[in-house]
Amino acid sequence: MWQGSGKFLIQLASVLLCAFEVTTRRLVVSPTTFDVRSYGASADGVTDNSHAFLRAWNAACSSSGDVELLIPPGTYILNPVKFKGPCSNVNTLTFYLEGELKASNDLRLYGKGDDWIEFGHVKGLRVTGGGTFDGQGSAAWAYNQCPTKKYCHILPISVKFMRLNDTIFYGIKSVNPKFFHIAVLQCQNFEASQIYMEAPEDSPNTDGIHITRSSGVSIHDSIISTGDDCVSIGQGSTDVFISGIKCGPGHGISIGSLGKYPNEGDVRDLVIRDCNISNTMNGLRIKTWQNSPSSSSATNITFENIQMSNVRHPIIIDQTYCPNNLCDDDKVPSRVSISDVHFKVINGTSASPVAVTLNCSPEIPCQNINLENILLNYVRGEPSTAFCAFASARFSGPNMLPLPCN
Ligand SMILES: *[C@@H]1O[C@H](CO)[C@@H](O)[C@H](O)[C@H]1NC(C)=O
Ligand SMILES: *[C@@H]1O[C@H](CO)[C@@H](O)[C@H](O)[C@H]1NC(C)=O
Ligand SMILES: *[C@@H]1O[C@H](CO)[C@@H](O)[C@H](O)[C@H]1NC(C)=O
Ligand SMILES: *[C@@H]1O[C@H](CO)[C@@H](O)[C@H](O)[C@H]1NC(C)=O
Repeated sequence: MWQGSGKFLIQLASVLLCAFEVTTRRLVVSPTTFDVRSYGASADGVTDNSHAFLRAWNAACSSSGDVELLIPPGTYILNPVKFKGPCSNVNTLTFYLEGELKASNDLRLYGKGDDWIEFGHVKGLRVTGGGTFDGQGSAAWAYNQCPTKKYCHILPISVKFMRLNDTIFYGIKSVNPKFFHIAVLQCQNFEASQIYMEAPEDSPNTDGIHITRSSGVSIHDSIISTGDDCVSIGQGSTDVFISGIKCGPGHGISIGSLGKYPNEGDVRDLVIRDCNISNTMNGLRIKTWQNSPSSSSATNITFENIQMSNVRHPIIIDQTYCPNNLCDDDKVPSRVSISDVHFKVINGTSASPVAVTLNCSPEIPCQNINLENILLNYVRGEPSTAFCAFASARFSGPNMLPLPCN
């Protein structure tokens, strides 16, 4: 009898210990988890999971503290879906993507202006877990009219982050979006790192990360190979820090295009540094539309320590941007003022002879453009050149190539 109850006590103790371990692990390490499979999701590669994901999102969002929406390994088909806040009692909401999400290919399922996946009005969102967003874009690219029409119907962006505060986007892969891979719109404090993006070099408008009207954005340590800009920083963006990006193929790292619409916000306080750009159309670019409907500015922008390899236009400010002559009146100069721009320690090779182009607005010339320690060799061997129009530019440093324009 004593033996029996001794054994029982030991068993009880170990059960209690176990329970304690489980409880503490839960409390300390893992947040409350909402597994999409418990809400009807199926990784069969056929079923649309948007309703199941939304049910799991709504459960997580209306919960409290640190919560996790778990998408275990497997391939999940997902029609367009909007994950909305506010999630009032939630501290952090982690979208933990281990699996692969595949976008629907039926464009009729996407309403006008709809993107594929939108996260909106949340504070403390984390999107991580090593999984993949596959936009299945190859079937949609033929329907993209933007390269030939100024006001075009825009295809769905793969993942749109809209009006979020304090977001972390970490360790995720994005492939073949129908339009941009990622858009960051009206967000405050957004950090992306360890992101891997891939789409064919000739896929239209597949920008890697596009930022508009956001502040406190940091994009770092990521690899972007795509058909358009690796990173593009649009109107109203301030306090943006880009570093450690391996970019190419693609169109490089761009500010703009600016000045397309009325009442655009100013762009200021940007740092782009420690990046490698190879086999791209542009390297570092600021582009503004001709005939801008209203005035705005782009100022305090630093590009530093950038390695270029076989880049067609390594450094380019283009204020006559008007792709395929889509402008209503190509005689009217841009009204975006560009000032206080620093290009420092930019090395490597240019695929065209003109390595530096500063083509500014005749109405508002560029002010205080500094090029310091630039060494860009034309791949064919002859010296590279610089072109300047309506730009007040200062070239400095030893072994400068191209030589300053006069
Ligand atoms: C984000 O912060 C701004 C103020 O900085 C606030 O107005 C807005 O409601 C916040 N949004 C969310 C989703 O928390
Ligand atoms: C850029 O290339 C250099 C070697 O040329 C390497 O040391 C560095 O890590 C690379 N940086 C990125 C962001 O790829
Ligand atoms: C320029 O931008 C940098 C980076 O955001 C910032 O630290 C600096 O204070 C800004 N300079 C001015 C004059 O605003
Ligand atoms: C750029 O070239 C200069 C001079 O050749 C060299 O001192 C510097 O280390 C190079 N920087 C990079 C980032 O390659």
